[in-house]
Amino acid sequence: MPIDFHLVEVPVGHSWAYDALATLSTEISVETYGEDRTVSLATLRQLHGDDHQGVPGFLAALPGVGSPTTPTGRFGLPVAPEDPAEMLASVEFLLPTLDNTHLVDDAWLQVDIRYRRQGIGRALWREVVRIGREHGRTTLVMWSDHALDVHDTALPRVEPSTGAGDVPLGPAAGFALALGHRLEQVERQSRLLLPVDDSRLAALASEAEAHAIPRYRTESWSGASETGRAEALARLNHAFSSDAPTGGIDVEPQEWDAARVHRQEERSLRTGELFTTVAFEASTGEPVAVTQLFCEYAHPHRVEQRNTVVSAPHRGVRLGLLVKVTNLRLLAASWPEAREVTTWNADENAPMLAINTALGYRPFARSAAWQRRIDGPSPW
Ligand SMILES: CC(C)(COP(=O)(O)OP(=O)(O)OC[C@H]1O[C@@H](n2cnc3c(N)ncnc32)[C@H](O)[C@@H]1OP(=O)(O)O)[C@@H](O)C(=O)NCCC(=O)NCCS
Repeated sequence: MPIDFHLVEVPVGHSWAYDALATLSTEISVETYGEDRTVSLATLRQLHGDDHQGVPGFLAALPGVGSPTTPTGRFGLPVAPEDPAEMLASVEFLLPTLDNTHLVDDAWLQVDIRYRRQGIGRALWREVVRIGREHGRTTLVMWSDHALDVHDTALPRVEPSTGAGDVPLGPAAGFALALGHRLEQVERQSRLLLPVDDSRLAALASEAEAHAIPRYRTESWSGASETGRAEALARLNHAFSSDAPTGGIDVEPQEWDAARVHRQEERSLRTGELFTTVAFEASTGEPVAVTQLFCEYAHPHRVEQRNTVVSAPHRGVRLGLLVKVTNLRLLAASWPEAREVTTWNADENAPMLAINTALGYRPFARSAAWQRRIDGPSPW
């Protein structure tokens, strides 16, 4: 018997709905990976509460028909009630406002396994498309995750337009394709188990230094970046957004300045710690490479690799390896609870994958970027 449901939007920080989202996300994560790999509730609240880079959205499906007197929120849907309810499904997304204003970005949709194939995913997706169109967005990018699982090998595969990597034609791919999305990029999720043997890190550091020193020097720090360093990060973040392979995703380079770096760091530092290493060209002082690690207080053993980039004119001298090894050594000295670092790399990004493989990263999952245009005639 199909369940009656209605859709609501959830204001930032709404108490029970965020707890329910965390529970649903954990269930989906365990289903996908066999373990909880979600960000903490505290980090989720910070992410959704930060409207500096865009307007974050969070919609949910609740049981029953809802009340006709419920006030509507900023996306035109009834606001989630005060009284707790079961969360059948959710979708989170971002409407970027500093750049990439053609996108509904990072849509992440999940339906409780007990309520699938009843049109709930499609209903939430339609609301995201409507909201995107009303905000003048032309393109929707939605993600799915897939563990590298032996059981997947029986399923047909879907390949992105780049031809690099593939994902199984399971529920997520079936859903995305049914809704007219194309697979535009596959990212590899890899993990490095910690601690890495000191002698191994020392050997890799020597190898990198032999190529890069004395032409370059590194600086490493934890916590917030002071202004000069934030300016360096802004330049490198811009380079990252224009240089990192994006497959067929219709994404523009991001606009960065020190203020944006500070804002993003402040948000992260409310729920965790950041470790940053930047390489500078010694003769000019120009920042040429960066890497950053984020450690959540809620999951101190599970570290997230953030941006790594080497600016184009300075590639080929092991700067990527140099900054990564240096930052891992800082992590080892400062955050002994760490047991693994997770990183995401485009499957077509051979140079970055080579560095990670040398460091000891091993792939365990893939993330897929599903894109479709939402402008023009109504898609339904
Ligand atoms: C993918 C997911 C969101 C689909 O939600 P759902 O509510 O079951 O989807 P719907 O019932 O609205 O299905 C819409 C259409 O998608 C397609 N579809 C959905 N599930 C499918 C499956 N398991 N296999 C093949 N096609 C599927 C069908 O065409 C379906 O229409 P139909 O039922 O009329 O044939 C859900 O399986 C889920 O939460 N998966 C885990 C999280 C995830 O992978 N999220 C990323 C989504 S891109």
